[in-house]
Amino acid sequence: MIDLHSHILPGLDDGARDLDDALDIARAAAADGISVIAATPHVREDYPTTADAMENGVRQLRAEIEREGIDLELLPGGEVSIEQIDRLSNDELRRFGLGGNPKYLLVETPYSAWPLCFGEIVHRLGVAGMTAVIAHPERNGAVQADNEKVAELARAGALIQVTAASLDGRLGSRARNCARDLIAAELADMVGSDAHMAGVREVGLSGACKAIGDPQLARWLTELVPGAIVRGGDFPTRPTPKGRRGFFACLRGR
Ligand SMILES: [Fe+2]
Repeated sequence: MIDLHSHILPGLDDGARDLDDALDIARAAAADGISVIAATPHVREDYPTTADAMENGVRQLRAEIEREGIDLELLPGGEVSIEQIDRLSNDELRRFGLGGNPKYLLVETPYSAWPLCFGEIVHRLGVAGMTAVIAHPERNGAVQADNEKVAELARAGALIQVTAASLDGRLGSRARNCARDLIAAELADMVGSDAHMAGVREVGLSGACKAIGDPQLARWLTELVPGAIVRGGDFPTRPTPKGRRGFFACLRGR
């Protein structure tokens, strides 16, 4: 599996505090069956990570992961806030390209209010040649009340990432129900862990795969789509759930 959302780089944000934390995440990821993980430190007002700091962090942690013999590939990235997208140049934004692909940018969804300019931001990134990947919209209260907001962003060209811990229920029933609804509505394109440190959205995608309950769809969300982003290949066709009625009943079973 490929996890394109983690706060594994030590000391840059509210994720891994030090090298030990980072290596704990790396070991747990490999044990869960993750072969590739993107470091996506916050790039926002309270954690204004620079592209230089992210790239240096990836280089250093990659060497440590190799030294420890952990079977995990570490790729660059960033989780960029809407305000920072306004502030940074397109060249710097491309250095935060998701999984090292400058054509995709992971954009943080605020947790409370829904930004009115979100669609405009998605459009503007598209004009600059970047596809916005919207991180965890299912944790936003406005989306939990009306997921049409996410459909609008998808129509504007965005991809949608839901958090593994939402799907398997670790973040509560509202986030879980909304994440499952986004999958059922064919609005979710991938699952990421958003791992911070032990005990805070612990790394791992296998629990979410079980919660999805459809192995083909789970593989598409955790392997094929993130793989196409990392390799820059064609976007894989979304699988049609087998026994659609049963699938929906399963997703909506609460
Ligand atoms: Fe995150």
